[in-house]
Amino acid sequence: MAESDDPFSLFATWFAEAERGEPNDPNGMVLATATPDGRPSARMVLLKGWDRDGFVFYTNLESRKGLELRANRAVALLFHWKSLRRQVRIEGEAALVSDAEADAYFVTRPRLSRLGAWASDQSRKLESRAALVARAAALEVRYAVTDIPRPPHWSGYRVRPEMFEFWQDMPFRLHDRTIYKRVEDSWQLEKLYP
Ligand SMILES: Cc1cc2nc3c(=O)[nH]c(=O)nc-3n(C[C@H](O)[C@H](O)[C@H](O)COP(=O)(O)O)c2cc1C
Repeated sequence: MAESDDPFSLFATWFAEAERGEPNDPNGMVLATATPDGRPSARMVLLKGWDRDGFVFYTNLESRKGLELRANRAVALLFHWKSLRRQVRIEGEAALVSDAEADAYFVTRPRLSRLGAWASDQSRKLESRAALVARAAALEVRYAVTDIPRPPHWSGYRVRPEMFEFWQDMPFRLHDRTIYKRVEDSWQLEKLYP
């Protein structure tokens, strides 16, 4: 199959170029979620793994995004690689990764990130900065000698794409837009006006 017929091959090429060309967080992506009645919200997350099964990020399951995902699995992802003048949009459904997969990733995180997963009640009201610092200090003591387990409220989601759009800046604003829609086991390709 030609690279241009397969959105995963094309993503691999563009992502490798972004890893070489972007000074900061080439794996940063916007994650858009929505409530069941269609109120959207968006924030950045980091892509921590991807393959033909989907695109994986990690987060706090009790955060705003976590609660929205619990009620509505439809999401959109957006990469913008400014230096390359490229954008990739992905739409699909998010599903929790297995506990084993989340555990395997959690142990690779730096110690402070692992403690941070325990310290933060992500997206809930913080009374003071001091409260957060005190919590982090207490966790340092609590896990001074023992392993830091993965918190039950911290895991990953895998977004299985149903649609990709690859956008490439072109001269005279005649940008190239290629859409790939999943049709059973293959991908239907079309071009859009920019
Ligand atoms: C570059 C960048 C990367 C981020 N990566 C993550 C991430 O991988 N997971 C995460 O939970 N939050 C990440 N954040 C923080 C989120 O953008 C957001 O503030 C947080 O997850 C709370 O979002 P929510 O209230 O919508 O759930 C990142 C922020 C930035 C700016």
